[in-house]
Amino acid sequence: MMSAFFIFAHNSSKKINMIKYVTAGESHGKGLISVVSGFPSNLNISEEYINEQLKRRQAGYGRGLRMKIESDKAEIISGVRFNKTLGSPISMFIKNNDWENWTEIMSVSKNKSEIEKISIPRPGHADLVGTLKYNYDDIRNSIERSSARETAARVAACAVARKLLSQFGIEVGSYVESIGGIFSKDNFADKFFDGKEVDSLSAEKINRQSDKSSVRVLDALQEKKIINKIKQAKKRGDTLGGTFFVVATGVPVGLGSFVDYESRLDAELSRSIISIQAVKGVEIGLGFESALRFGSEVHDEISLKGRQFTRRTNRAGGIEGSISTGLPIIIRGAMKPISTLMSPLNTIDLSTMKKIESRRERSDFVAVPACAVIAESMAAWALAKFFLQKFGGDCIEETKENYKNYTQKLFGRTKNSFLRK
Ligand SMILES: Cc1cc2nc3c(=O)[nH]c(=O)nc-3n(C[C@H](O)[C@H](O)[C@H](O)COP(=O)(O)O)c2cc1C
Repeated sequence: MMSAFFIFAHNSSKKINMIKYVTAGESHGKGLISVVSGFPSNLNISEEYINEQLKRRQAGYGRGLRMKIESDKAEIISGVRFNKTLGSPISMFIKNNDWENWTEIMSVSKNKSEIEKISIPRPGHADLVGTLKYNYDDIRNSIERSSARETAARVAACAVARKLLSQFGIEVGSYVESIGGIFSKDNFADKFFDGKEVDSLSAEKINRQSDKSSVRVLDALQEKKIINKIKQAKKRGDTLGGTFFVVATGVPVGLGSFVDYESRLDAELSRSIISIQAVKGVEIGLGFESALRFGSEVHDEISLKGRQFTRRTNRAGGIEGSISTGLPIIIRGAMKPISTLMSPLNTIDLSTMKKIESRRERSDFVAVPACAVIAESMAAWALAKFFLQKFGGDCIEETKENYKNYTQKLFGRTKNSFLRK
């Protein structure tokens, strides 16, 4: 009775939701905070669901000691009651277990002159530029916030977006394509763009498979070779980067727009993923490869399957004119090698202005598997942002009603009447 009234009361309005999140916290501070706003009420969400994603971010062969100290758990502070969102801001806290070893160094109030300052910046990190820009007298200040520890708070925030998308059959998955230049002989992505899997691709299935691998690859032989390469890197005191794919399936036609630059879905997704620490490249669909081919080998022919439009190929990676086509969204990212090297590069000591070897600091050797999970989360946020801009809703029931009306209208149009009003 209650829900019938509900739908009746809401189905004529459409609220444009602007979702936002902010993260706070230093790498070795007390903890991390995420504040998420703009989501409809009545969306089911639990700490367990968020923590599953946090656990995925922590995994991967090649991580350093820090990930052994931490076992990230988000505590929801506000915005959720009885496992349902209230529509109010959702705030979460993730404790840094390592904090107890850093209470003096990271004290909010203690006189900083008693603490040994860091004066040797690591190449490839934010150490030097951050110190110059913010006029810090201790490189530690730069290290603490530029660290990818911040991404734990992002993954927690983006889990709300992921949960929203799952209500509409949209899943986001990822796998590692290469680490240290080691690729699989099976070019999986080629099949997504050109092969039989264009239609049948499932992000959930990709995650199920990649999560089983210690380096989140889809090929066991490649995994072995990568682990050997990571061991080699460790022995040399060196680090590695790699490439990864993010795939979103179940995305409806029509998210994003070409009408202005801020509405472009490909731009939003790219920005989200390149904002991850150490990510240096993003491609949508064939990406850079599309610049090397004839047009006929790049664009996806349009045909009909019953009353629905379809494509035999998905080289565009699910986006045309900055709008989702309804086919899987395929994004590729590149992560540079970790900047902290145990066999350090040269740098300048800011206290003496003399040449010196860079500092060694407890660090990961490889973090591409974690980076792929973070990229998944960021993509989920970007998709949820455009999804809620399109379908709105103060409560999830209203979002669902708006979504149903849209898809019914879309699929209700016949071949002959498509362009008629
Ligand atoms: C999941 C993840 C873990 C990382 N772990 C480390 C690390 O342990 N040590 C390190 O020096 N850099 C690490 N990085 C990379 C640095 O955060 C990155 O090199 C730094 O922020 C500068 O990159 P930027 O130039 O892209 O900002 C990590 C990055 C990610 C995404």
